[in-house]
Amino acid sequence: MRDLKNDVASILISEEQLDKIVTRIAADIDRDYSGDDKKLVLVCILKGSLVFMGDLMKKIKVPVEIDCMKVSSYGAGTESSGQIHISLDLIRPDINECDFLIIEDIIDSGCTLSHLTKYLKLKGAKSVKTCTLLDKPSRRKVEFIPDYVGTEIPDEFVIGYGLDYAEMYRALPFVGILKPEVYTK
Ligand code: IMP
Ligand code: MG
Repeated sequence: MRDLKNDVASILISEEQLDKIVTRIAADIDRDYSGDDKKLVLVCILKGSLVFMGDLMKKIKVPVEIDCMKVSSYGAGTESSGQIHISLDLIRPDINECDFLIIEDIIDSGCTLSHLTKYLKLKGAKSVKTCTLLDKPSRRKVEFIPDYVGTEIPDEFVIGYGLDYAEMYRALPFVGILKPEVYTK
């Protein structure tokens, strides 16, 4: 059996560190969304945010609803093109009552989250905020500051805890740096 761990150059964020990060973000969300006038809807951006979202929603104590969107940025390999395509949209009749919190795995160029935030506001959302597990600020193509950030990381291609390269490595329980020879082959 192929051991995917052999493709990992180093572990950047361990399971224990991820748990602490998720606990901290959940407490921040509880603090900010505790009002009775809030209808918090976590929007999981498939597929990369699936694991983060699953862990985060279990730790949030205020009432939450969940929804999913699927967004792809055209492009192959480790570079995104900046063009966003929504292949699974939000379909709900109460958009103007919802306080959406978009849950993302990682911000790179900033294109995905800046586009999605504008998109949900245009659709009439009551409020839209963003939460990302990882942020690579050095890679921004468009200015974007998320409301909740797990941790900033250097400009390395990372996998695990939901993040993929060519659809692989999502199930690894840590965030690791992928060996460059895997994607430069
Ligand atoms: P952005 O639109 O450039 O900010 O791209 C964000 C998306 O690119 C993320 O949701 C990921 O799907 C993908 N991405 C960016 N960097 C990485 C990485 O290091 N590993 C895995 N996916 C990444
Ligand atoms: Mg993603």
